[in-house]
Amino acid sequence: MNSDISLLSSSTVLGWTDGQLAASHMPKEIASSIAARIQTLGEPTSENSTVHITMPGNDKVHVVVVFLPSHPSPAHLREATGRAVREMGAQKHVVIDMPHSTVEEHAAIEEGALLGSYSFDVYRATDTSVPTFEIVTDLPDVGKPNTHVEISVAAQQFVQNLVNTPAADLYPEHLEKAARELVSNLDVEVTSWSGTALEEMGCGGLIGVGKGSVHEPRLVKLDWNPNNARTHVALVGKGITFDSGGMSLKSHEGMIDMKTDMTGAATVAATVFACASLGVPVRVTAWMCIAENMLSGTSMHVGDVLRIANGTTVEVNNTDAEGRLVLADGLSHAVRDNPDQIIDVATLTGAQIRALGNRYAGLMGTDELVTCIVQAAEKAGEYIWPMPLPDYLMSVLDSKIADMRNTGTAEAGMLTAGLFLRRFTGGLPWAHIDIAGPSFNPGSPWGYTPSGATGYGVRTLLTHIETLATQ
Ligand code: BES
Ligand code: ZN
Ligand code: ZN
Repeated sequence: MNSDISLLSSSTVLGWTDGQLAASHMPKEIASSIAARIQTLGEPTSENSTVHITMPGNDKVHVVVVFLPSHPSPAHLREATGRAVREMGAQKHVVIDMPHSTVEEHAAIEEGALLGSYSFDVYRATDTSVPTFEIVTDLPDVGKPNTHVEISVAAQQFVQNLVNTPAADLYPEHLEKAARELVSNLDVEVTSWSGTALEEMGCGGLIGVGKGSVHEPRLVKLDWNPNNARTHVALVGKGITFDSGGMSLKSHEGMIDMKTDMTGAATVAATVFACASLGVPVRVTAWMCIAENMLSGTSMHVGDVLRIANGTTVEVNNTDAEGRLVLADGLSHAVRDNPDQIIDVATLTGAQIRALGNRYAGLMGTDELVTCIVQAAEKAGEYIWPMPLPDYLMSVLDSKIADMRNTGTAEAGMLTAGLFLRRFTGGLPWAHIDIAGPSFNPGSPWGYTPSGATGYGVRTLLTHIETLATQ
């Protein structure tokens, strides 16, 4: 147990449950003095809300008291700790005295603290220093940093850093390089195709979408294939390093955050990194479908017909529906390995945001896998919601000259995008996660989630794959 001295002299995070301080290690008199101050100021009562005070007897020491429900889950503890740490601002050292009685809860508190202290300072004159944390605990053997938490956070922050990076500094080549560097010390095989090799792979979707850019498109495969693999999961990620819309040019407003359109590819790479770092006994193959969707004299036209890697031809009636074109190539190649299941992750549609907002992802796919992903997301503390893939909508993707076209009518844009992708999944168990909303927070921070890139989805995928390893 930590000494009272450090408890009273460092910035501190405390929990508030059922009208009182939650199982704190504060000396009794200090705890009651804090509780009295909180009662005067007004208790935090809504989910994760906080009250900021100073330490009794030392008004230089910052104390954040965060509301918790009566029986907080690990997800509650992660969010609440993350919010409190985030609101703490620049600090050197933070003592976290949150209620917990299991290693899992302790890990969630640690993860929340690390996520809540994220900031992206590459483009600023001064760096915000990341504080050190001390979690006050009665549990034995949790003194050292938890490897699982560290790897999970590193994976999420890898995604956040890339997604926050402007498109001028992160074009297709860089995204490939970043993925290669991420897994360079791990037993992960990396293969990539661009130029004529991409043509030989039949990737008409990637080539078509990338045609307007001076930066070549590419398909990157990361394969973690341990000897003791129990099953094989293929992950396919949308890696559009900038989505201008192409000839179907976006509005100024619509283009503002389009550097984030590679989140899916970064997410699948981060998941392979986490699985390989943790030695998860599941083969995980990530396919990063990388291109820049630009408007120029060499761009694909509206009305062009592309041939996807599985032979399907697609009439491009909207060049801004480019994600499904590059994913179709990735899915086609993923299917050839005959994995046990395929999961694609993509910032695919504005319709996803209109339907579910900024915190929930839309989930579509085959029933059993969808159920597993819902459970994994719940466990990981990420919001996701299942959506239908109605067969009757399929006809809106009929083309007069090709096997299909890439967009339907204005209605149900998230679902028609899902239906489009289904055509390339070879009938395998498949899930499609549309993360257009939760991948990026254009508004104010909440919980441990900062403004900007969120790292959403890594924990759900990792939890899902780790669950498969135990089955
Ligand atoms: N990258 C966008 C989707 C998007 C929008 C992601 C906003 C994140 C925030 C995607 O490529 C796109 O432009 N989709 C179109 C599809 C339409 C043309 C059928 C859309 O949603 O408007
Ligand atoms: Zn687009
Ligand atoms: Zn896009």
